Amino acid sequence: MTFNVKNPILTDLALMEKHLEKMSTELSQCYEQIMLLYNLSTHMNLDQSNATYLQLACDQLTQLIPVEGIAIFLEKKIDGAKRLVLNAGSGVIALDPNAADILQMHLTAELTAGKEALLDSQVDNPFKYAWPEQIRNILAVPVGPADKMMGLLVATNILNKPDFDSTDVKLFNSVANQCAVFIENGRLFDDLKELFIGSLKALTNSIDAKDQYTRGHSERVALISRWIAEHLKETHPLTEKEIHHIYLAGLLHDIGKIGVSESVLRKQGKLSDEERSIILSHPRIGASILSEIPQMREIIPGVLYHHERYDGKGYPEGLSGQDIPFSARIIALADAFDAMTSRRVYRDAMSIRRALSEVEKGVGCQFDPIAARAFLDSPIDQLWKVIQDGFIETWDYSNFEEYGTKAVGALIR
Ligand SMILES: [Fe+2]
Repeated sequence: MTFNVKNPILTDLALMEKHLEKMSTELSQCYEQIMLLYNLSTHMNLDQSNATYLQLACDQLTQLIPVEGIAIFLEKKIDGAKRLVLNAGSGVIALDPNAADILQMHLTAELTAGKEALLDSQVDNPFKYAWPEQIRNILAVPVGPADKMMGLLVATNILNKPDFDSTDVKLFNSVANQCAVFIENGRLFDDLKELFIGSLKALTNSIDAKDQYTRGHSERVALISRWIAEHLKETHPLTEKEIHHIYLAGLLHDIGKIGVSESVLRKQGKLSDEERSIILSHPRIGASILSEIPQMREIIPGVLYHHERYDGKGYPEGLSGQDIPFSARIIALADAFDAMTSRRVYRDAMSIRRALSEVEKGVGCQFDPIAARAFLDSPIDQLWKVIQDGFIETWDYSNFEEYGTKAVGALIR
């Protein structure tokens, strides 16, 4: 005889087990979502580009929510009009930037209607909007606040379930918010950096202006130093950060002249011993000024030793060869090159060709061989454009062709 009566205790246990299993799955998904957001927040390092960070966001999202295509479009001004430009993504999104503009319009309509996202699918219903035929379902959320949207995050064709759901919407919105914070921080950081560099340029220009023959010298030395640093790639590769420090050190290399009077700087005849010792002290004064600013610590060696020579005959310490910090060896070369190609009260500017042959002669005695070689082997004829583009003042280059490539230094002072 068999009994077909269900044991109520066993039934309850089975239900509880099912419930527990569901909770544990949900908890593990929740944990993964939190980890994703945590990962994104720990990667908010402003040294990386928007594209790198946004790509990380897309990659991490697709690990949790597998989709056929994911993309982040950001607004960019093109010919005066705001357009969406693809910044990151993977897979086949089936939307080109033109279609993204239409998507943004539909997303704005959904947000205005009080929705958190645009969620359109043909799984249960016909599509609300018209999409390219490859799209089965689509989820789009704004990057940035709805009223100041800076772009959008979009995914198409979810792979592990029939349709996107409200949990996906929440996660997409959280990730898009993190992306917006990163982009906004980057903009603020760039503004601050620009303000900072602008203030330094104004300061060094005021020092250079003490002598009409050194007008613009610091900015040019900064640009030439960066040019050399960038052309060291194969022989002595430097990081972006190191190159930026060299640029800053080049810009501030003569900041110690702030304490040297104009009469000494402009003096044409022989300097007295006292005047000479004042001039020779400017690297130390510069280093001492910068030592008060913790963020400037990295650039002090370039400033302090920019008058050292490779053969040890420079100042202030008479260091030689590798004992001279590398940044200072680069700035020393840029400083000398700019001085040679600048007009002085007692001589005209040297032609570029002549100045380059002087650099060649100085390899291993006045100049560091690695830096000098990189400089001599670089496409110097393009340097004038770099100087023109990076310069705070505008210069008339209309006659550049007439001067040809020798004009780098001669034309800009
Ligand atoms: Fe100097």
